[in-house]
Amino acid sequence: MKTPFYEFYKENLIENYITFETSCEKYFKDNFQICFSTKTNTNPEVIKTLMKEGCGFEVASLREIRLTPKNAFKVMNGPAKTNEELKIAIRDDVLIFIDSFSELDKIIEIKNRNPEIKNHFFGIRLGHEKSKFGFSQKQIKEVFKIAKENEIQIQAIQLHQGTLNKLAVYKKNLKDQLKIIEPYLKQIKYLNFGGGYPDNFQLKNLQLTINDYLKEIKAIFKNFKGIFIFEPGRNLVADAYTLITKVIAIKEKNNEHYAVLDVGINSLSKITLANFKFNKLSSQTIKVEMKNIKSKVSAEKAETYTLAGPLLFNNDIVGKWHGKLHEGDYFEVENVGAYCQNLSWEIIYDKPRVY
Ligand SMILES: Cc1ncc(COP(=O)(O)O)c(C=O)c1O
Repeated sequence: MKTPFYEFYKENLIENYITFETSCEKYFKDNFQICFSTKTNTNPEVIKTLMKEGCGFEVASLREIRLTPKNAFKVMNGPAKTNEELKIAIRDDVLIFIDSFSELDKIIEIKNRNPEIKNHFFGIRLGHEKSKFGFSQKQIKEVFKIAKENEIQIQAIQLHQGTLNKLAVYKKNLKDQLKIIEPYLKQIKYLNFGGGYPDNFQLKNLQLTINDYLKEIKAIFKNFKGIFIFEPGRNLVADAYTLITKVIAIKEKNNEHYAVLDVGINSLSKITLANFKFNKLSSQTIKVEMKNIKSKVSAEKAETYTLAGPLLFNNDIVGKWHGKLHEGDYFEVENVGAYCQNLSWEIIYDKPRVY
């Protein structure tokens, strides 16, 4: 078995999508649109599977516009949209969420040169106080004013939530944001709540479900009569992938036991904010491969191992595992579907492939 490699579980992705969709139906009937956050995972199989389920896409670049199906509902976010990207997004009927005054100026210029796009409408992004994203509370009035003066239609607002907030913080943010955008609620068609919903592992630890989040949105924004947009990333895809890795070397130094794997920080990046779960694959699963591996190091006694990648740098430590380990043993790492593949880089070995 040539490791490392990812395994994609399409049925988990579909199940997660249906769970999210069912929750949306419960609170918003037909008035919602889910847009998978494409940057989380750009595997064409993931995109195709979600498209078949009726999912839309949140994109942040021309690359992501091209990677996602042309006829899907798309929203565009991000603080770094170029003129070219904006022109193509307008041509392709993507709902663009404007992030800054400079972006608004670019759009005004594009519109002035192309009067035929006067019916295209846009959204604006409201960032919470400490966030770098979108406009601040103080700027919102000015954005609407400039847009109106230049005949740019603003029909959507995105509320940036930040990632993995506690439910109480999430609720407080929503209430604060409602106060800011209340004067505009009647004139907009779409209200976008972004992403940041915990993945299934995190939800289980928090003893929460997606219903708990959407219920708050419904309760706080009960007077909004338009379409609710959601941009889940990790929640849909985190547990739809596993990563298979092999123990290359076992060593003991200064009373610490290390199992050096063939993946580390290059594929299990800490900036994904995911909790990775390491399961040793049973000898039953791997007995064919094991026949060929004559391990030099054989642990007869259970130890606590520090699991590390082949760089063995301090930041290449990826977990702890207690039990008996041998060189040549395999681990399945769970919860690696969000961001890992897109963030992974080549070092020493090739990037893991997806099966
Ligand atoms: C604009 C936007 N929407 C949605 C997401 C998805 O976030 P998550 O994977 O935490 O749901 C991100 C992630 O960075 C984002 O930038």
